[in-house]
Amino acid sequence: MALLTPLPFVTRVSAIEFDARSLNMPDEVEVIRGLRGVYFDTTSASFVDGEQGRLIYRGYNIHDLAENSTAEETFYLLMYGQLPTTSELAAFDKKLKGSREIPDEVISVIRLVQNAHPMDVLRTAISALAGTDPSADITDMSVEGSRDKGIRLTAQAPTIVAYHHRIRQGLEPIGPRADLSHAANFLHMLTGTEPTEDESGLMDTDFVLHAEHGANASAFSARVTAGTQADVHAAITAAIATLKGPSHGGAAEEVMKMAMEIGEESAAEKYVSDVLGSGGRIMGFGHRVYKAEDPRARHLRARCQKLGEERGDPKWFRILSRVAEAMEPYKARGIHVNVDFWAGSIYHLLGLPEDIFVSIFALGRIPGWTLQVTEQLDNNILIRPLLKYEGPEDMEYVPIHQR
Ligand code: COA
Repeated sequence: MALLTPLPFVTRVSAIEFDARSLNMPDEVEVIRGLRGVYFDTTSASFVDGEQGRLIYRGYNIHDLAENSTAEETFYLLMYGQLPTTSELAAFDKKLKGSREIPDEVISVIRLVQNAHPMDVLRTAISALAGTDPSADITDMSVEGSRDKGIRLTAQAPTIVAYHHRIRQGLEPIGPRADLSHAANFLHMLTGTEPTEDESGLMDTDFVLHAEHGANASAFSARVTAGTQADVHAAITAAIATLKGPSHGGAAEEVMKMAMEIGEESAAEKYVSDVLGSGGRIMGFGHRVYKAEDPRARHLRARCQKLGEERGDPKWFRILSRVAEAMEPYKARGIHVNVDFWAGSIYHLLGLPEDIFVSIFALGRIPGWTLQVTEQLDNNILIRPLLKYEGPEDMEYVPIHQR
């Protein structure tokens, strides 16, 4: 087994005896904003090699998994730590398929909040599922019990996204089909049409590529929540809330909006220089850890090109390719295409609306969040950093009528 080289930017912060009763802040406090480069625990989940652009799930290279594995197998690998045997995979698949339904109470919640953004609906419905989960004790934080809840949420979340999309269009929800794979069933519930092998294969690869990514903001949220011994539904709800932002999962939606705003490939270069010239950012570029190309992006790039040609709609691939060309000089600054750059146009070509793009990311990531939660629980510690106080002290309290 090859040893992994640690990231080069380890920052050491000297342990400081902090007296909470005093406002005297020791001089040697080093503030690491955004926790950039800080290791806060160990993991056997995944390794994001930002310098070389490598991603490893449980020891397996993402390229091997993207080319050879399925969503179900990858989810098992992440949650249980090893690739399944045929019978283990069959049992896991049965468990997923048997958990896809969501209770009527939760469907009512979806109807109530149907006008909200799909991520808000997903977050609300996942939270509501805590009230109907079949586990004997929702607060059971054992690794086994938590993993089981994570498996159920993995199976139920696509149903939430699909039901919501149908309900908000005034259509009847389409129930899950046990003869379809995780990816194919999701597309079927969403569109009402059985997807082709290519379409479900694309969604399947997308789930594999999004399944786990270390201590990113949403996984960190999940860990912080689990660290307080709150339950799995709480941790996944927190993770979904965190994923929503455009600096994290929301970028795919923004990329597609950008491509539409550009409109034609000849306008891409000017668009990029205008945005950068006004201090803006190009969505789908840059990453906190990757300073080389995001290894997930290449799988989606090739798929985006192929799908566009097959659908007779190669425009989006061409526009985005021109954006990528215009961003070439930024590679020298470590700003490369990230996974969201091509994902948005693929979802668009599959006929999916922009506002569910980030929810699709969440569906793929629930197994990773589950793993992060169970790993946290396996050796739990409260995650509680400090803030360096820089406000006033010794202020005199003035009663309200004298201010
Ligand atoms: N377009 C243009 N410039 C970018 C950029 C982008 N997409 N991403 C980063 N930069 C520049 C910043 O302007 C900054 O430049 P400066 O040093 O001259 O101020 C520098 O790169 C570092 O950016 P910073 O925000 O400190 O990096 P980060 O690690 O905190 O941010 C992201 C990472 C993902 C938030 C950032 O790259 C981004 O906003 N990307 C666009 C959104 C996106 O695609 N998100 C999906 C991530 S998977």
